[in-house]
Amino acid sequence: MENKEELARQLEYIDKLTKVTDELKDQLGHLPKCAVVTFGCQMNARDSEKLSGILLKVGFDLDCDENDADLVIYNTCTVRDNANQKVYGHLGTLKARKKKQPNLKIVLCGCMMQEQSVIETISKDYKFVDLVFGTHNIFKFAELLYNMYEAGSQIIDIWESTDDYVEDLPVNRKYTYKSGVNIMYGCNNFCTYCIVPYVRGRERSRDPKEILREIEKLVADGVVEVMLLGQNVNSYGKGLDTPLTFAQLLQEVEKIDGLKRIRFMTSHPKDLSDELIEVMAKSDKICRHIHLPLQSGSDRILKEMNRRYTKEQYIALAEKIKKAIPDIAITTDIIIGFPGETKEDVDETIDVIKRVGYDNAFTFIYSKRTGTPAASREDQVDEAFAKEQFKRVLDAVHESAGLSNSSLTGMVFDALVEEISDNDPTMVTGRLSNNSMVHFKGGSELIGQIVPVKLESARGFYYIGRMIDNNDN
Ligand code: 5AD
Ligand code: SF4
Repeated sequence: MENKEELARQLEYIDKLTKVTDELKDQLGHLPKCAVVTFGCQMNARDSEKLSGILLKVGFDLDCDENDADLVIYNTCTVRDNANQKVYGHLGTLKARKKKQPNLKIVLCGCMMQEQSVIETISKDYKFVDLVFGTHNIFKFAELLYNMYEAGSQIIDIWESTDDYVEDLPVNRKYTYKSGVNIMYGCNNFCTYCIVPYVRGRERSRDPKEILREIEKLVADGVVEVMLLGQNVNSYGKGLDTPLTFAQLLQEVEKIDGLKRIRFMTSHPKDLSDELIEVMAKSDKICRHIHLPLQSGSDRILKEMNRRYTKEQYIALAEKIKKAIPDIAITTDIIIGFPGETKEDVDETIDVIKRVGYDNAFTFIYSKRTGTPAASREDQVDEAFAKEQFKRVLDAVHESAGLSNSSLTGMVFDALVEEISDNDPTMVTGRLSNNSMVHFKGGSELIGQIVPVKLESARGFYYIGRMIDNNDN
């Protein structure tokens, strides 16, 4: 439930923190500098915008390098072990820095902090970390940060779960023209490899009125594209006082004047409804892209992963979507090396890649996550074998994506201009409705605008194009 009292409390702490940063400024001789380092998914990116919003409001300078910062915040991810290892690596460097710069403050938050073993390690071996909190009490950030500056020793505050959220705190959006919007939190699916349900808690949908109000405010503030975020948006609305489906929510979002594009992430194939396909097909605003994690193409592995669909059901769903929305791009996630996986299982996955013809796929080597059912299996896959299979899958993905990523050459599409191109300051980078990227000549005045672009040539995962005016083609 949205908690207004808590909001008022946190606003008071924001005031108190402003005094802390004033004092820091006097001590340091400059605005205190803070670096927020984000690991992981779009949910974490959105959470970091919330942290940054408060930091900016209370007077931190966020425009700094991690190595120059007076306050370093790591918003962590734990979906695969390499994300955890990266954080420990960074902490090693920070420990040395803190010896030379004792006033340096270090904060850890995010999914990794919801793991008990991590908290035990940090409280025992990383005493130089000043503040640790988790995913459920992020709304208390102002209060926790204030307490950190007041306290002389490490503060650890981790909650098991929460029913509360506080939504109207300041947010510092990374982009002026697009924004993520949380529509639900947590996950109930318990895929047997996945740690997310343990660290993000049970599924909770936000009240649709609150979501619509937030989007209206974003649009008034210049946002033209929103990404509706949830671990499984297709099960949105269950448990609300007046249940509403995800497709119905989308129809309401579509009505918001001034909003040009709607994206969403992520869709679990088992819950994707015909109603959603119909709404997407009719919509002018919902983007022509769906991220539909496959994970595996083998029925046996899918069952052991607790995914609750079969290979053929998945392919039939992808075909149904393509038939209803022919210009849609489908992307996916694939795990290789799940316990007991054989070469034949991977053959099935490759078969799905070929038959669906993905526009892109994120491929991951299975990572054992303590506490998940798959982690206790004895038939963990040999690393060298997993790497070999990974390569086979990657080749299939490249072939499939290469085929679909050149298919639009010669056509004209609207692109939302996102930034100046990394490699050429005379070019800008735009995103098509189907999530493909196009680079074309243009300047920073185009950022945030939707303009027609002719795709002139395909270069692997992106296009080179030319902006046209409406009389030109
Ligand atoms: N090992 C490897 N990949 C994983 N994912 C989730 N858990 C694991 C794991 N234990 C992948 C899934 C998911 C994506 C976000 O991360 O493919 O869709
Ligand atoms: Fe993890 Fe499965 Fe939930 Fe996705 S749907 S977050 S993979 S448990």
